[in-house]
Amino acid sequence: MKVAVIGTGYVGLVTGTCFADMGNDVWCIDIDRDKIENLKKGIMPIYEPGLEELVRRNYREGRLRFTTDLKEGIEKALFIFIAVGTPPGEDGSADLQHVLNVASEIGKNIDNYKIIVNKSTVPVGTAERVKQEIQKELDARGLNEVEFDVVSNPEFLKEGDAIKDFMRPDRIIIGTDNVRTAELMNELYSSFYRKDDKVIAMDIPSAELTKYAANAMLATRISFMNELSVLCEAAGADIQNVRRGIGSDSRIGKDFLYAGIGYGGSCFPKDVKALIQTAREHGSESKILQSVEDVNKQQRILFVKKVVKHMGEDLEGRVFAVWGLAFKPNTDDIREAPSIDIINGLRERGASFKAYDPIAIETAKEVLGDERIEYEMQYYDVLKDADALLLLTEWHHFRKPDFEKIKMLMKTPIIFDGRNQYEPAKMKEKGFTYFCVGRVQK
Ligand SMILES: NC(=O)c1ccc[n+]([C@@H]2O[C@H](COP(=O)([O-])OP(=O)(O)OC[C@H]3O[C@@H](n4cnc5c(N)ncnc54)[C@H](O)[C@@H]3O)[C@@H](O)[C@H]2O)c1
Repeated sequence: MKVAVIGTGYVGLVTGTCFADMGNDVWCIDIDRDKIENLKKGIMPIYEPGLEELVRRNYREGRLRFTTDLKEGIEKALFIFIAVGTPPGEDGSADLQHVLNVASEIGKNIDNYKIIVNKSTVPVGTAERVKQEIQKELDARGLNEVEFDVVSNPEFLKEGDAIKDFMRPDRIIIGTDNVRTAELMNELYSSFYRKDDKVIAMDIPSAELTKYAANAMLATRISFMNELSVLCEAAGADIQNVRRGIGSDSRIGKDFLYAGIGYGGSCFPKDVKALIQTAREHGSESKILQSVEDVNKQQRILFVKKVVKHMGEDLEGRVFAVWGLAFKPNTDDIREAPSIDIINGLRERGASFKAYDPIAIETAKEVLGDERIEYEMQYYDVLKDADALLLLTEWHHFRKPDFEKIKMLMKTPIIFDGRNQYEPAKMKEKGFTYFCVGRVQK
């Protein structure tokens, strides 16, 4: 089948590449010329495991094309996916300017039947606005007989696992009011499942809301555990035991129950904010989600306070080693990463840093700059003469480090672990002063 994807970022590039890998003809379109030229040379704009090989192969074999020319890109396609960004506006609502610009460009350039698929995360009611924008342009061109459908097909991939999530989805949400369109969408997606039909077809507003509901639910679980972790520390309980205790309940399940320094990234923070705003626009107040957001912000502040409580309010002359800057492992995405607020919170008090991340150093430099931060490519190098280690992203190779070497390199063996990677009792045996989240060293 013939597919165009407008917006070649995380979602668009993964979507286009995975469709191409299933034998479809795909055009990936973006306004960013450098991005498109680099992709033609096999240079990826993002780090995502497995993506580079898949892009190169499908491009080489002619199923995947890259262009900045929207007209050329959508000409032959039946499906036109919109996968541009929807960043938060000033009031927290999703900024739809890119989506609506694309809709208007589509209206200016189509002259036969197309299925416009909205993959960007957008508030309920957006499909209708996209439809109006396209129709307006068609009418202006005197082409009001040209037919098109607008479908809501939100994306649930996780950065770091994007290819796997797209290739083996838990479910595929298709929001449409047209049976024939639902069948065509089903056909396009049928290569991604063998046994069970993974498609859940529904009305458009419910599909639009489902995406926000999913992210808001996951963010809620994280904030719930973080709130409990504060109580655990105060009451001498252990959040890891509580997590095991409740996660084994099949009604609750084990995922997204890890206490730490809170959620970040390009989706949860903005989607929670946008859903709060959507609720407001519809005359209701989202008390739960407001608390989810507050707890998430608070969790970073509490971590800074923990460091300050032990190391002192004046951190001038103190050097902190940092392990991990990305908002989570397996990505170079630094957007809304807890590391930013934590480093800035301590930097305000005079602290200096030596920071390591296996992939996110370049993206982190753009946000954090280099004032009192040195970046290192080797994780043991940052420990030399450090007053304390801050573990901020749970990269796999931090799980079993050489603790003797750590102790030897550091000025003082103090670890503030924002991701609960080690056992407090064992760390005591090894001679570390160890702070984590929701657990106390006894
Ligand atoms: N990143 C994720 O993990 C994820 C997961 C699920 C859903 N989403 C949602 O998917 C959407 C896209 O997110 P992303 O992370 O891929 O964004 P991104 O910022 O990585 O990519 C967006 C791309 O769109 C391009 N673009 C903007 N305007 C354009 C235009 N008029 N024509 C062509 N290209 C244009 C930009 O140049 C950029 O390359 C958002 O709504 C996001 O909430 C993201």
